[in-house]
Amino acid sequence: MIKRLSPLAALVVLFLADALAYTWPNLAYDFVEEFLWLELTGFAGIPAVCTASPDGTTPSIQAQWLRTAYHDMATANAGVGGIDGSIFFELDRAENVGVGLSNTKTQFKNHISKYMSTPDLIAAAAVISVSQCGGPSIPFRPGRVMAAAAGPSGVPVPEGTLAQHTAAFQRQGFTATEMIGLVACGHTLGGVTAVDFPAINTGSGIAPFDDTRLFDNHIATNYIQGPNINPLVGGPAVTDSDARIFGSDGNVTMKSFAASAATFSSTCATLIGRMINTVPTGVTLRDPVVPIAFKPRDYLLSVTAAGTLNLQVTADIFGPSVINNNRVVTLRWADRQSSTCASGVCTASSISTTSNPSLRNGNTLQSYKFSVTVSAAASFSSFWFTVDEVGNGVTVTTQNNGGGNYPVDDLIVNVPAYSCGMFTGANIARITTAVRADGATQVSGVSVEAMFQNQVAMSADLTTVAASLGTAPFISPIPQYVYYTALIPGDTSFSCQYLNYEFSAIFGGVVHTGPLLGGVCGVRSIRIGTSCSTT
Ligand code: HEM
Ligand SMILES: *[C@@H]1O[C@H](CO)[C@@H](O)[C@H](O)[C@H]1NC(C)=O
Repeated sequence: MIKRLSPLAALVVLFLADALAYTWPNLAYDFVEEFLWLELTGFAGIPAVCTASPDGTTPSIQAQWLRTAYHDMATANAGVGGIDGSIFFELDRAENVGVGLSNTKTQFKNHISKYMSTPDLIAAAAVISVSQCGGPSIPFRPGRVMAAAAGPSGVPVPEGTLAQHTAAFQRQGFTATEMIGLVACGHTLGGVTAVDFPAINTGSGIAPFDDTRLFDNHIATNYIQGPNINPLVGGPAVTDSDARIFGSDGNVTMKSFAASAATFSSTCATLIGRMINTVPTGVTLRDPVVPIAFKPRDYLLSVTAAGTLNLQVTADIFGPSVINNNRVVTLRWADRQSSTCASGVCTASSISTTSNPSLRNGNTLQSYKFSVTVSAAASFSSFWFTVDEVGNGVTVTTQNNGGGNYPVDDLIVNVPAYSCGMFTGANIARITTAVRADGATQVSGVSVEAMFQNQVAMSADLTTVAASLGTAPFISPIPQYVYYTALIPGDTSFSCQYLNYEFSAIFGGVVHTGPLLGGVCGVRSIRIGTSCSTT
């Protein structure tokens, strides 16, 4: 029987199709996927919820974020500028008036990372804001590059004439009709603030553009059918830019939005998508980051104090209605010498389960954490999972990375007992790695890349520090590993801005990279200890 797919079922099909193309691990993809869909870093939790009722007192952070994206893009001109973060160097300009833009900068600076640049945050914030307020799902493609300095000016102002606005949007890459659409899509959220525009909002607080805080077509229904509350339509004539723009085609576009919420939604998905993907020439955006229905997260292979090897990993199940307390997920692995299990007991149950029932776009998450310890001689070569949805052992499916299993690289592993934040001296952290010493291939170039959130330049500064051979006093000596330690120089008063550490080493000309370790204040759950008890 063929039946029409519901939107949710269509979404599931999309996940499955993309899951086939995805192979774990992919540090850059995993970071963004967890940021955008699993909402793990706290970024998507910054805005308050969108409500149906208008609110003239509480600012809408979603509205502030969407306006930020437009103001960053609005100075684009023939491959120069666009979404490049330059807005955050341009906040003193009259065209960028508004505490919403500077608040956004403050909110964003703690979320900059190697894998999410400031302009990527700006674009992702637009995507998150629109969907949190009930608008369409807009694909997010990472890869934007932070500008080094302010760019040209040219954000439209409400006093502008229709001809000036049409020319500005043409410079930005939008036709006269698309201008109507993009302004309506923006002005469905938020409003005009009295402190920023006292001549337009002569009262106090915020004069909303329409009668809901949702991303909906009320910006159009209010305009066409009334009552109109948009202060850029019914305000002083000189600043009625929305009236001039909305009426510029005899109201044809606005009538189509008022007549169809679906038309408004799909038009906005396209136009806001183009807005956030307007980037300078030379910047190449990567493919859209779609959620992966089943994926390992927070993977860490480490040498324990006892000299054994611990594998820690969380299996995430993501999608609409995935929370199922009967489900049993089992971790299975193969030791380093074979594709099976030498000891015959290479399986483990999860040690804890967590879930999130209310992610964006109707999605949910259930996570299964595992931690298993084996001898360094046995070690691991790969792992996979079996999933029993009913929990009675009758129907069990396998999750194995599309067939190849999830690979374990035991040539370079972390030493948590000897990796920590340091709050004295000129060093901010000590990262110790263990490299495999019982193979034929010699190691070279053991190093740690530290990522510092530069909250002035609004960029991720990367420093690579060579690690030197030494001892790890808290570890029982074992023949399989030798220890390399890197002291990461840095200003301890900025300890929370040292967000990530990635360690790597070269074996036979091939770079082997460990997982992404979080700094002491990092929001990631895999992170270094907060202090070093002894040196
Ligand atoms: C001719 C073009 C435009 C003009 C003249 C204009 C003007 C304005 C003005 C005067 C405000 C009030 C800001 C404040 O009170 O701080 C505002 C708010 C806003 N604009 Fe525009 N805008 C234009 C286009 C756009 C576009 C294309 C978008 C996004 C796609 C957008 C998104 C927003 C949002 C979301 C707000 C609400 C901000 C908040 O409530 O904090 N605007 N706009
Ligand atoms: C467009 O709609 C506005 C608001 O309803 C109205 O004031 C204006 O006269 C309309 N313009 C045209 C050409 O119909």
